[in-house]
Amino acid sequence: MAALLCFCALISAVCCAPLIETQPEQVHVSYPGEISLFMIDSCQSKQRQTVVVFIPIIFWLSVVEYGLWGGKLFSHTAEGDASVFIDGGPENRTMYVHRVTLTDLTPAASYVYHCGSDAGWSDIFYFTSLNESVSFSPRFALFGDMGNENPQSLSRLQKETQMGMYDVILHIGDFAYDMHEDNGRIGDEFMRQIQSIAAYTPYMTCPGNHEWAYNFSHYRSRFSMPGHTENLWYSWNIGPAHIISFSTEVYFYLEYGLDLLFRQYDWLQADLQEANRPENRAQRPWIITMGHRPMYCSNDDGDDCTHFQSYVRLGRNDTKPIAPGLEDLFYQYGVDLELWAHEHTYERLWPVYDYKVFNGSSEEPYVNPKAPVHIITGSAGCREKHDGFIPKPRDWSAFRSTDYGYTRMRLINGTHLYLEQVSDDQVALACVCVSVCLFVCVCVSE
Ligand SMILES: *[C@@H]1O[C@H](CO)[C@@H](O)[C@H](O)[C@H]1NC(C)=O
Ligand SMILES: *[C@@H]1O[C@H](CO)[C@@H](O)[C@H](O)[C@H]1NC(C)=O
Ligand SMILES: *[C@@H]1O[C@H](CO)[C@@H](O)[C@H](O)[C@H]1NC(C)=O
Ligand SMILES: *[C@@H]1O[C@H](CO)[C@@H](O)[C@H](O)[C@H]1NC(C)=O
Ligand SMILES: *[C@@H]1O[C@H](CO)[C@@H](O)[C@H](O)[C@H]1NC(C)=O
Ligand SMILES: *[C@@H]1O[C@H](CO)[C@@H](O)[C@H](O)[C@H]1NC(C)=O
Ligand SMILES: [Fe+2]
Repeated sequence: MAALLCFCALISAVCCAPLIETQPEQVHVSYPGEISLFMIDSCQSKQRQTVVVFIPIIFWLSVVEYGLWGGKLFSHTAEGDASVFIDGGPENRTMYVHRVTLTDLTPAASYVYHCGSDAGWSDIFYFTSLNESVSFSPRFALFGDMGNENPQSLSRLQKETQMGMYDVILHIGDFAYDMHEDNGRIGDEFMRQIQSIAAYTPYMTCPGNHEWAYNFSHYRSRFSMPGHTENLWYSWNIGPAHIISFSTEVYFYLEYGLDLLFRQYDWLQADLQEANRPENRAQRPWIITMGHRPMYCSNDDGDDCTHFQSYVRLGRNDTKPIAPGLEDLFYQYGVDLELWAHEHTYERLWPVYDYKVFNGSSEEPYVNPKAPVHIITGSAGCREKHDGFIPKPRDWSAFRSTDYGYTRMRLINGTHLYLEQVSDDQVALACVCVSVCLFVCVCVSE
C-alpha cells in the first residue's frame, strides 16, 4: 500500500553554545511530516528527519553522524544548514540554529546519533524513526506551560522518555517563561533542560502567549515543525491520526498582523477539508487539534476561556473584517479531540459544542460522542505555579484537578483512544508511580 510507505519523520536538534564555544547543545528532534499530507502517492518511501544545532561560528558545518542501534556507530552522515537568529533584546545576541534533515531512515528503527562538526560534537543520543503504518498505535506525552523554573513534571518525563515510553511529545505552548528573557539566555537554558527528552523523542509544539516577544521570534527560530509557516500552524500524521497544531495567539496579538488570523483560518479549513476526504478519513479517522488557549475552562482567573464570548471559540467582532472563531469549524469537520493548555490545571470535558453537552449516551458519553472532546493540560509546572477553579463547574466539565502533571495518550487503533492524567503531586506523596487514571474512550462515528 503506497499510503503506508510515505509518512515522513523529522528530527530536529538544536545545539547552542556560549559564545566562545563551538560544541553543540540544545539538541532536539521533530518529525518533518512535510511531504504530501496524506501520502496517497508520489512521496518517497523513506523517512526524513531534521536536526537543529546552535553553534556560534557559522562557517562550521552542521553535521549529524548516525547509525542503527547496535550497528556501526556513525556509519551515516547528513549535512544541513545554519541560520542566524538575533535575539531582540538590548545585547542583540546572535545564535546560529543548525538544522539537519536525515533521510533514508528505516521505519521504526532505532538510531544512535550525535551532531556538530569538527569544531565539536554533542553527546550521543538515540531515537526511533517513525512507524509509518496507519495501524501503528503511537504513545504520546502531552502538556503545556512547562517552564525553566519549577518544571514539576520534567524529571518523570525524562526517565519515561529515556525508557522509551513515548513515540512523541506534544508541548502545547508556553515554554521557558520566557525564552526571550535575559537576552534569550532563558530560552537557551530551557532548551538545554528539555534536551534530556527532546533529543530522544520528537518534540512537537505550538505557540503560547509566553512566546509573544519580538513577534514570537524565539519560537519561530528555535523549533522546526512541518510546513512552511515558521511553526505557527501545521499538520502531520501518525498512526491512525491527523494532528493539527495552530496558534491561538493570532486572536490576541493583532499587532503582529490580523492577516495571520485569516491565513490560519483559511489554512485550517483547507486542511480539515482534505483530512475529511473519505479516503483520507478512512485511513486516519482521528482528527486531533492542539492549540494553547482553550475555548472552555472552569478556571477563576478571567482568561478568555472563562468568557462565554471566548475569542478562540467565537472569534472577534471588533476587527475588520470580523474574525471567525474556531468552535464551529472544528465541530463541522468532525474534530474528535481538542488538546489545550494555558490554564495551569487539568480539566476534561464531556463532548461539547456551543456550551451544550453532546454525550454519546448517558452510560458511555465518550463512545461515538456527538461533539469534540476537550482536554486542558497546562500543569507541567512553571514559575507561575497553579491556577484555581470556580467552585461550581458547568455541566460540560467532567473532571478537574489542580495537581501538577501531564497527560499520556495512546491511539490504540482507528476506533479507540486512551488518555490518562499523571499527577506529580500524588506520585510524590505516595512515593510510587501511580497515575490518576481518567479513561476517555472515543469512537469515531464515521
Ligand atoms: C543592538 O542593535 C541596535 C539596533 O541595531 C543598536 O542600536 C544597538 O546599539 C545594538 N546593541 C548592541 C549591544 O550591539
Ligand atoms: C509498525 O506497527 C505495526 C502495527 O503495530 C506493526 O505491525 C509493524 O510491524 C510495525 N513496523 C515495524 C517496521 O516495526
Ligand atoms: C510576524 O511574523 C509573521 C510570521 O513570520 C509575519 O507573517 C508577520 O508579518 C510578522 N508581523 C510583523 C508585524 O512583523
Ligand atoms: C461583539 O462581541 C462582544 C463580546 O466579545 C459582545 O458582547 C457583543 O454583543 C458583540 N457584538 C455584536 C454586534 O455581535
Ligand atoms: C454526560 O454523561 C455524564 C456521564 O454519564 C453525565 O454525568 C452527565 O450528566 C451527562 N451530561 C448530559 C448533559 O447528559
Ligand atoms: C481497537 O482497540 C479496542 C481496544 O483495545 C478493541 O476492543 C477493538 O477490537 C480494536 N478494534 C480493531 C478494529 O482492532
Ligand atoms: Fe499561556
